[in-house]
Amino acid sequence: MQVFNTKNELVSLIDKLKGEHKTIGFVPTMGALHEGHLSLVEEAKKECDVVVVSIFVNPTQFNDPEDLKRYPRTLENDLELLRTLDCDVAFAPSVEEIYPEPDTRKFNFGYLETVMEGARRPGHFNGVGQVVSRLFDIVRPDKAFFGMKDFQQIAIIKEMVRQLHYPIEIVPCPIVREESGLARSSRNTLLDEEHRKNAAHIYETLRKVHYLIPEKSVEDVKQWITDEINENPFLEVEYVEIVNFDTLKVVKDWSEPGKRVACVAVYAGKIRLIDNIVF
Ligand code: PAF
Repeated sequence: MQVFNTKNELVSLIDKLKGEHKTIGFVPTMGALHEGHLSLVEEAKKECDVVVVSIFVNPTQFNDPEDLKRYPRTLENDLELLRTLDCDVAFAPSVEEIYPEPDTRKFNFGYLETVMEGARRPGHFNGVGQVVSRLFDIVRPDKAFFGMKDFQQIAIIKEMVRQLHYPIEIVPCPIVREESGLARSSRNTLLDEEHRKNAAHIYETLRKVHYLIPEKSVEDVKQWITDEINENPFLEVEYVEIVNFDTLKVVKDWSEPGKRVACVAVYAGKIRLIDNIVF
């Protein structure tokens, strides 16, 4: 596996690969890699000739400085994991390399950034747009792979691709879960044993949702999820939302057509976890 820290080195390699008509699969990450990321790499390997993984903790998408400070950083271990998967290229730039000057661009993702994560984490998706567009400009992938745990992020990135006319296919990949059902996340390593065990209750609850439909109204189902999770003394719900799978519009009535997604953000102690289920 080739490891690069600078844009120029990676740009030269990508130029060469493009000259050889190789397809490029890209998996952007913030490191602290887990099975979820590895499944994205596996999928990228199936679909593309060359796989590039970036490892970059992007400061512009953190609305809470404490969250940025404690975000796990495990570069050596990450590179080792990628080597075992036979990944082709890892890109681990410094902050100065990605942002030689502050990025002042303001994206307008319209409705998509007004709900759920967008409403609770001001500036978060703008920062995601900034970094992902910079990485896309460097890597110039044919396909980019994202995990569905960050369901709203995928919608935002698809919208950015549309607005900036990137010829890139966004490939959503299924959530990978721990044995307990807890969605894999780099933040899980920050949970102590007790919180990690109890955080499994989030998915246990989401799995029961479809049994409640259509007897309970949308509002009652959201309340039920909130109460059920909050009953666990280690967990505290920040929000529960049920949205249309394609538009992210808030579902008001079960008679509305289309697939739906129940999305939650939950604090397990100080650690904020998100999860969702499609039904
Ligand atoms: O999903 C993530 O890990 C990040 O938001 C991403 C897409 C790597 C951008 O920093």
